Amino acid sequence: MASTQLKLKHFLCEQDWTNEELETVMDLAAELKRQVGLEIPHEICKNKTLFMLFFEESTRTRNAFECGITQLGGHANYLTPKATQIDHGEGPKDTVEVLSRYGHAIGIRNTLVGGYKYMKAMVQHAKIPVYNMQCDIYHPTQSLADLFTIREKFGKDLRGRKFVISWTYGPGYIRPLSMAQSLVTLMPRFGMDVTLAHPPEFTLMPEIMKQAEENARDAGVKFEVVHNMEEACKDADIIYAKSWGPIMHTEDEKEGLAIIDRYKDKGWVCDMKKFEVAKPKAIYMHCMPADRGIEVTDEVIDGPMSVIYDEAENRLHVQKALMALTMR
Ligand code: CP
Repeated sequence: MASTQLKLKHFLCEQDWTNEELETVMDLAAELKRQVGLEIPHEICKNKTLFMLFFEESTRTRNAFECGITQLGGHANYLTPKATQIDHGEGPKDTVEVLSRYGHAIGIRNTLVGGYKYMKAMVQHAKIPVYNMQCDIYHPTQSLADLFTIREKFGKDLRGRKFVISWTYGPGYIRPLSMAQSLVTLMPRFGMDVTLAHPPEFTLMPEIMKQAEENARDAGVKFEVVHNMEEACKDADIIYAKSWGPIMHTEDEKEGLAIIDRYKDKGWVCDMKKFEVAKPKAIYMHCMPADRGIEVTDEVIDGPMSVIYDEAENRLHVQKALMALTMR
C-alpha cells in the first residue's frame, strides 16, 4: 500500500523508512520515469527550491538532483562550504535555520568522518526535509536507485536472488564505506540473499553488520561474509563490485593506502572469471565513478551484463520521487 504521510520526512538512512514507504518512492519513480519517456510535464514542485550542500565533488548525485528539481518545476541552489559562511565557522543550526526560511528541502554530501553527525545536527533544527546525498556511513539515494534498477531487471519478487557486494582493488585514495554499508542493510529487506566479500582488513562498521544480520533474519534471507571474490560470485544474480578503504582497521591514510596495495593483482577485480561462475543472466552494477581497468575490466563494464548507465539514470527518477513526496 502506498504511504501518503511523507511530507517533511528526512532521508538520512534507509533504515529510518519502512519498506512500505520505500515502495511508495519507487512506485512514484516508475511513474515519473514513464512520464519522462512520454514527455508529459510534471511540475509537482513548482517554484520550490532545493539547497544542495556539497563538501565534496559529484557527477551523478548533484546532476540527478539538479535536473530532477528542474523537471519538477523547481530550482536548485548549489552550495559549498566556501560559497557559504560554513568555511568561516557557521554551524549546522544557524545554516539550516536560515535556509529553512528560504527553501523547501536541503541535501548534503559530506563523506568525511563526522558527515552523518553533521547531517543529524542539521535535522535537529531543520524545518525542511534533509536528504543524505552520501555521508561517511550511508549513501541512501544511490542504494534506493540500485534496488529500483534490480527490480526493473528481475521483477519485484527477489526471493532466491543472490546479491553480491564485493570489495575491489582501488588505489590512490581512501573511499568511504557508505556504499557497501547501505547495500548490505537495504537489500536483505527486499528479499535478496546477500554475500559480502572483502579482504580481512576491509570490514564494515560493527553496528552496520549487526543491522544487516537483523534485517536478513527478519526477512528470512541469507547474509554471509567471505574473503574470496570468486567464491562470492558463485551463482550470483547481481555482482556489485567496488572499492572502499580499510577504515575500520586504521585511521592512518598512508597505512590505509599501503594495505590497499597489498591486494593489487590478487583477484579483487570484476572480470569475466567472476561472471563464468555467476548465473548466466547475472548483471554487473557499480555506483560510479568506476576505475576502469583496475576495479573492473572493459569487457565487463562495457559488456551485456553491465547495467551501470540504467543505474545512474535511475538516480534521477528516484530522487525526483523523493523530492515530490517530501518537500515542504
Ligand atoms: N554514485 C555517486 O554518488 O556518484 P557521484 O559521486 O558522481 O555523485
